[in-house]
Amino acid sequence: MMNARTALTLVLAAGEGTRMRSRQPKVLHAIGGRPLIGHVLAAAGRLGGHTAVVIGPDHADVAAEVKRMTPDAEVFVQAERRGTAHAVLAARPAIARGADDILVVFGDTPLITPATLERLRGALGQAAVAVLGFRPADPTGYGRLVVEDGQLIAIREDKDASAAERALTFCNAGAMALDGRHALALLDRIDDRNAKREFYLTDVVALARAQKFSVVAIETEEDEVRGINTRVQLAEAEAVLQRRLRQQWLEAGVTMVAPETVFLSADTKLAADVVIEPHVVFGAGVVVEEGAVIRAFSHLEGAHVGKGARVGPFARLRPGAELGADVHIGNFVEVKAAVVEAGAKANHLAYIGDARVGEGSNIGAGTIVCNYDGVAKHHTDIGKGAFIGSNSSLVAPVSVGAGAYVATGSVITDNVPADALAIARSRQTIKENRASALRSRKSAGKTKAKQAAD
Ligand code: UD1
Ligand code: CA
Repeated sequence: MMNARTALTLVLAAGEGTRMRSRQPKVLHAIGGRPLIGHVLAAAGRLGGHTAVVIGPDHADVAAEVKRMTPDAEVFVQAERRGTAHAVLAARPAIARGADDILVVFGDTPLITPATLERLRGALGQAAVAVLGFRPADPTGYGRLVVEDGQLIAIREDKDASAAERALTFCNAGAMALDGRHALALLDRIDDRNAKREFYLTDVVALARAQKFSVVAIETEEDEVRGINTRVQLAEAEAVLQRRLRQQWLEAGVTMVAPETVFLSADTKLAADVVIEPHVVFGAGVVVEEGAVIRAFSHLEGAHVGKGARVGPFARLRPGAELGADVHIGNFVEVKAAVVEAGAKANHLAYIGDARVGEGSNIGAGTIVCNYDGVAKHHTDIGKGAFIGSNSSLVAPVSVGAGAYVATGSVITDNVPADALAIARSRQTIKENRASALRSRKSAGKTKAKQAAD
C-alpha cells in the first residue's frame, strides 16, 4: 500500500485494563499467539509512515513488546490517565514534527485491518477529520455518531448522551484520522468539561465542525473493531481472528478437512497444497512448506516443516524443530531444537532433542535422545543413512556416524563410527528346558506355603 502522503499512527495503550483481572497489562494479552498491541502495530506498520505508542507508567514490559514488534516506533508515557485526547497529546513531540495524515488507533482493538485504516486515511482527501464507525449489536458504552447531511457533527459519549442521542445506533469504533495541518490546534482546544472529567478525543469532531472543517464517518463491521476489556471479549476476538486466519489459508490453497478445529497463529505460514487434518494446533513461529501433511492432533510451535513432509497424527514439534523435505514424524514423536534432514523417518514414540538427524536415516520406535544430564543440554549427531534400532537411548553428547547401525535396545554412550554396528546391551542367554523346571519349582513352593498356613 503506497501513499505519497506521510503518516503518523498513534497507538493508545495507557489503559489499565482492570476488567481483565490480570497482573499483566491488557495489551500484552494475546490472540493468535501475538499480544493485542502486536496486532495493532502490524496493521499500522502496513500503512508505512511512523508509529508512536502511548503507554502507561510502569509499563516497561509493554514498551519492550513495542520495540520487539516495531523497533523504530517511538514510545511515550502518559503519566496520568486523563482521557483519550490527553493520551494523544502525550505524543505531542511526534505530532508536532508534522505528518500529512495522523491516525489514532487503540491498542485494545486488535482486529482492525490495514485496508480499513487505509480507507479511513483516504477519507482525509475531503475532510479534516475522519472517524471509523460501526453498528454494534449492543451500543451501550460506545460514543454515538451524530450525523447530519453526510457530515459527522459530534460524537456523544454514552455517559453524556441525551435519551435521543443514546437511541442512535451508529457508534464510534475508536479509530480516527486527522489532517496533520490542523490536528494539534484542534487537540489543544479539547477540555474536560464532561461526565467523566476526561479529555475526550471525540470532542475533536465538534471543534472541527465549529471551524467549518468537513468531518466524515466511514463504516466498518463490528468484528473488526471489537475492543477488548474482559477475558470474555478476549476469547470472542480470538474466535474472530481464528475464522479470519483459516479463511485466509483456505483461500491460499491449503486444505483443512475441519477448519473449525484447527488453531492458527497470526504468524503461521502455510504453503499451497499443505493438508491439515482435524485438531491441529499451530503455536507461534511455524512455517509449513508445499505439500506437507499435518495429521490429526498434532501440536507445532517454532517449527519448520519441509516440502512433502508428514507429521503426526499425535506429533509434537517444539521450537527449533527443522524438518527437511519428505521427513516423516509419526505418532507420539517429539522433536525439539533438532534438524531432521531430508527423507529421515521417526515414525513412532520417540524424543529427538538438541540433535541433527542425517538425511534418510531411520529412527526406530521408542528411541530417546538423552540430551539433558540434569545440569546442561548436550548435542547428538546422527549421520546420513544411519539406522537406530528400536528402544535405544543415545546419551548426549554423542554421535552416530553415517550409515552406522545401532542395535535395538542399545544405550549408546560412546561415539559410533560411520558404517559401524554398535550393540550396547547385555547378551541374551538361553537355558534349554528351564521353563518347565522353573514352573514345577514354583508350584512346589506354593504348596509348601499353603500347608504352612493351614
Ligand atoms: C472510547 C471512545 C468511544 C468509543 C470507544 C470505542 C473516547 C472519549 N471515547 O471509549 O467514543 O465508542 O472508545 O471502543 O475516546 N487510553 C489511554 N489513556 C487514557 C484513556 C484511554 O491511553 O487516559 C486508551 C486506552 O488504553 C484504550 C483507548 O485509549 O486503548 C480507549 O480508552 P477507553 O477508556 O477504553 O475508551 P472508551 O470509554 O471505551
Ligand atoms: Ca474501551
